[in-house]
Amino acid sequence: MKFFVDSADVHEIADLAATGLVDGVTTNPSLVAKTGRPFFEVLEEICRLVSGPVSAEVTATDVAGMLREASRLLEVAPNVCIKLPLTPAGLQACRALADRGAKVNVTLCFSPAQAILAAKAGAAFVSPFVGRLDDVGHDGMRLISDILQIYRNYPNFRTEVLVASIRHPLHVVEAARLGAHVATMPPAVLRQLVRHPLTDKGLEAFLADWAKTGQRIG
Ligand code: E4P
Repeated sequence: MKFFVDSADVHEIADLAATGLVDGVTTNPSLVAKTGRPFFEVLEEICRLVSGPVSAEVTATDVAGMLREASRLLEVAPNVCIKLPLTPAGLQACRALADRGAKVNVTLCFSPAQAILAAKAGAAFVSPFVGRLDDVGHDGMRLISDILQIYRNYPNFRTEVLVASIRHPLHVVEAARLGAHVATMPPAVLRQLVRHPLTDKGLEAFLADWAKTGQRIG
């Protein structure tokens, strides 16, 4: 399973990339706005920090505008992945970009029907938003399970399921249990994955016992 960081904060991304656990990055207009920095500057820096795909979202809503913005974004670095919304225009632009060999992440997916369309449009990734579905009383993980089941029926679908809008470690664990290809998560969730109180307690005890021996390694 691949881990992407869902952030446009270059300090957070650099910090996490150093762990060797980060396979890519997803950004969106809200995350970029939060940085208060120029988009292209941020995108260039992120693309230098990670070698895997970095999703950069267009803001145009018509096909011609999406393709124009995508061309500009693709000039930034070879690992830019164009993020397009799951709209009729987004799907049309996805097909055009995929035919040119560009990687596309179709975002804002909330139903299995939409995910089928993203695969048919040649998306490299589809991003179902589990947290936002949970927020409105739907079962976000059920959507992941449905999409994976459908995609398995069609080996010619190459689209990877990128679980997005992750809120806590259990979303990541459940996504992995279902066999999702990628989980994109806020930096805080990635850091939470490692923590366990029994690990801390166990290490503390080992180190205390070791100190009593008066020995040193190295
Ligand atoms: C995914 O690519 C999105 O940027 C992100 O996961 C959205 O998450 P949110 O629902 O927490 O805003």
